[in-house]
Amino acid sequence: MPESGFYSAVEARRTVRDFLPEPVPQEVLNRCLDAARLAPSSSNLQPWEFVVIRDPKARQAANAACLDQMPAKTAPLLIALVTHRETWRRNRDEIVRVFEGRGPLRPSQASYYKKIIPLIYTTGPLGILGPLKRVFSRVGSLFKPTPNLMSQADIRVMAHKSTALAAATFMLALRAEGYDSCPMEGFDPWRAKALLGLPRGAEVNMFLAIGKRSESGVWWDRVLMPRDWVVREL
Ligand SMILES: Cc1cc2nc3c(=O)[nH]c(=O)nc-3n(C[C@H](O)[C@H](O)[C@H](O)COP(=O)(O)O)c2cc1C
Repeated sequence: MPESGFYSAVEARRTVRDFLPEPVPQEVLNRCLDAARLAPSSSNLQPWEFVVIRDPKARQAANAACLDQMPAKTAPLLIALVTHRETWRRNRDEIVRVFEGRGPLRPSQASYYKKIIPLIYTTGPLGILGPLKRVFSRVGSLFKPTPNLMSQADIRVMAHKSTALAAATFMLALRAEGYDSCPMEGFDPWRAKALLGLPRGAEVNMFLAIGKRSESGVWWDRVLMPRDWVVREL
């Protein structure tokens, strides 16, 4: 394997469930958040938001929403990683604004961000257009390769996929900085949403407990599925 900081961070990252009280320095956190912001996302729409929970009362409520899991209770820092399904218009406009600030919008950029993105993301009131778009795509696919024009449920999956990639990038950056994390989807989604004051179309993708591992921080040895179960050549 090539000598690389990347591979050592990948190897050394483990889910840590018991943390030392030592705080995470702000500059380390900032570097890791900025690394996470570079993660790939569907159409570059970056549907994520990292909510750093500092307020002690909010933290207590967040620990409870995380079912008082050990990593939440012991970590010096807890972050809620939120997925937004309804920020696509704002974010699309920002992409267009930045491109336009750099010079005239290329025809491919104009067509992608002004025509294709709205076609994908518009699902009408109460998502009523979603099933129609899906049927239209499915029938089209019988005749020629056709993209899935996305129902609300498809958009939700898409937004969570991109957000999880930001989570992975963030956790690897933390490890590269000598810090550890525990991703948690064991939480009460309704309480978490209320606690964070999330708008419509937003939900917690996962909580991330962050800090330095204690001696007993890694609970179990790593177990990997056999390689030929997870890698296949066609
Ligand atoms: C999306 C996701 C949700 C998870 N939720 C929890 C959780 O709620 N509590 C927990 O202790 N670990 C949680 N984990 C950690 C996994 O159990 C852990 O990644 C897995 O056992 C592999 O161990 P490793 O990360 O040390 O390689 C979660 C991991 C992922 C990716």
